[in-house]
Amino acid sequence: MREYQQAVSTLLKVVRNGQSLASSFSQEVTPLAKQITYGVLREYYLLDYLSSSVLDRPLPSKHLDLKLLLFCGIYSIRTLKRPQHASVDAVVDSTKALRKPWSKSLVNAVLRNYIRRRNDLDDISGESIEIQTNHPEWLTTRISRAWPDDAGQIFRANNEQPPMVLRINELKTTRENYLTLLADDKVDARAGSLVTSSVVLESPCPVDRLPGFEDGWVSIQDEASQLAAYLLKTCAEENVLDACAAPGGKACHLLEMYPDIKLVANDKDQVRLKAINENLIRLGLSCEVTCMDLVDIRNRKFDKILIDAPCSATGIIRRHPDIKLLRKNSDIDKLCAMQSRLILAAWQLLDHGGELLYSTCSVLPEENEDIVSSFILSRDDVEVLPINVDAGIKLQIGHQLLPTSAAHDGFYYAHLRKLPLMRPGE
Ligand SMILES: C[S@@+](CC[C@H](N)C(=O)[O-])C[C@H]1O[C@@H](n2cnc3c(N)ncnc32)[C@H](O)[C@@H]1O
Repeated sequence: MREYQQAVSTLLKVVRNGQSLASSFSQEVTPLAKQITYGVLREYYLLDYLSSSVLDRPLPSKHLDLKLLLFCGIYSIRTLKRPQHASVDAVVDSTKALRKPWSKSLVNAVLRNYIRRRNDLDDISGESIEIQTNHPEWLTTRISRAWPDDAGQIFRANNEQPPMVLRINELKTTRENYLTLLADDKVDARAGSLVTSSVVLESPCPVDRLPGFEDGWVSIQDEASQLAAYLLKTCAEENVLDACAAPGGKACHLLEMYPDIKLVANDKDQVRLKAINENLIRLGLSCEVTCMDLVDIRNRKFDKILIDAPCSATGIIRRHPDIKLLRKNSDIDKLCAMQSRLILAAWQLLDHGGELLYSTCSVLPEENEDIVSSFILSRDDVEVLPINVDAGIKLQIGHQLLPTSAAHDGFYYAHLRKLPLMRPGE
């Protein structure tokens, strides 16, 4: 019963208050409550359809808690395949904690009605696109327009539980050694295929089960995100800026791969910046950490710049399914305007001959190739460097990885060089 109660209280923070899922879990949340919460958000549109189909009339908005409780019950029975009658009893019992004991018989009747009709209700072929894809209509439209051949695969991957992926800190251990340690601890894992620093766990496990986690041997980071440090190859003593660095995944990876660079990890968000410092300490790394709006950084020049821009995060929906409910169509234009400003600001901090890697965890071309193309069109000092990756889609400008079942997240990368200054007579 506690599980359903916890799931509903977390879901209320997301659905009613618009709070992010990551900040909504309480300390005491159980693994099952977490699994139900993630699952309900992944299947939100379908669960809405299923529960409305078995309710006699819609629940008034003041009973959002009951509606979410029904979603949790149907999700447990349908997707988690938990024993039907025990699930109904546990969900019905949770109505006490919602202080709505009168709703006991309603919840009981609705769930039993669902169990009776579940086979018929499973045919959703004639239903709306939102119900079929479990994505809001605006996002379904944008993704289908951008990737007509891949949209189905993107929706499927977005609705699945993603793999848990580790990044090996090659300053402390090797992937081979670490796989042996995991095998000794009976944690099933394999080497990742996209980068040489990644290990993919067969099923997620708490970080305290990972050998050496507290001592900085590994971090949690998807393979697509780990690519950044491979693409922005840097040399000892180079001045490198990670312009939007928090919580520090890519900055720390850069330091692990190129320990002799002079890295500045910058972010404008003081709270998120704390996570960079914590990661640096755990991993035994150090660099200059600054808290500035990128557009306000002046009088500094860098050889290499990574700009992992704020974006719609539509490539990592499976890790943050609250995005489906919290992100709005109107956010995209605002994000694009910010991305254009950031790439220009970063370019002004780049030395001639220096390189900039632009990345997002978005699958929308509006935030990716379109931003970089219009930036290039507005200048005459940009060379586009090739990106060779054995996965994803090579674009005219940049490279797009799409979220893939049991594999990497969705990410976009473009690698640019600022042309060296011509000397007179050259
Ligand atoms: C996608 S996240 C970066 C993730 C990070 N690179 C990593 O790998 O852990 C984008 C970051 O950009 C930061 N940001 C947004 N606007 C910014 C600005 N104008 N100047 C600097 N940082 C900014 C946000 O606070 C956020 O932490």
